[in-house]
Amino acid sequence: MNDDIDQVLIGRDDLDRRVTEVARQIAGDIGVAASGVGAAEITIVPILTGSIIFVSDLIRKLPLPMQIHLVSVSAYPGRSTRSRGARIRSQLTSLPEDLADAHVLVVDDILDTGGTLGIVRDLVLRSRPRSLRTCVLLRKRRPAAMAFPVDYVCFDIPDVFVVGCGLDYNGYYRNLPDIVTLRQEVTAGADA
Ligand code: XMP
Repeated sequence: MNDDIDQVLIGRDDLDRRVTEVARQIAGDIGVAASGVGAAEITIVPILTGSIIFVSDLIRKLPLPMQIHLVSVSAYPGRSTRSRGARIRSQLTSLPEDLADAHVLVVDDILDTGGTLGIVRDLVLRSRPRSLRTCVLLRKRRPAAMAFPVDYVCFDIPDVFVVGCGLDYNGYYRNLPDIVTLRQEVTAGADA
């Protein structure tokens, strides 16, 4: 697996440092939003599968009472390195119909076209949350991503295909602890 890596874009120590910073910011913002109207409680909505590593790191740095509701969306099926358009897998949505008391934080691994985050944001809004925030580990420096409204971004990266820390190619590499690019030979058959 390590032989397939071309470049390490973001190392594990930098990831950890930045996630700690963003968690502090989120905890502070939710605390302010909740002041005077009950507990600073938060409902986390991780977008599967790519956000699993990021969200597990992030929530352990958030000292707030929380619930977690999972949503599954697919945008890069199988051997693709370009978005095929996000689709929601509604049978894997555990969102309650009513989120009226909840400060919701939708968490995704990477913002590319904005299709995925847009779908989930609209889905959550239907449950009328008290507030809605969005958070991504990575945002690609491309016009669609930079123009898409998002509350918390850990890192802006070049517009390249990356894996690791939850991000995959054809289902593999999610367990790499750094954000990396793959050697060209590895993705040679992609998008054919
Ligand atoms: P959109 O276009 O909906 O894309 O903003 C977000 C989803 O697409 C996947 N994605 C990637 N997956 N390496 C990956 O492994 C990438 O460089 C990449 N760019 C987008 C990802 O599932 C994300 O949730």
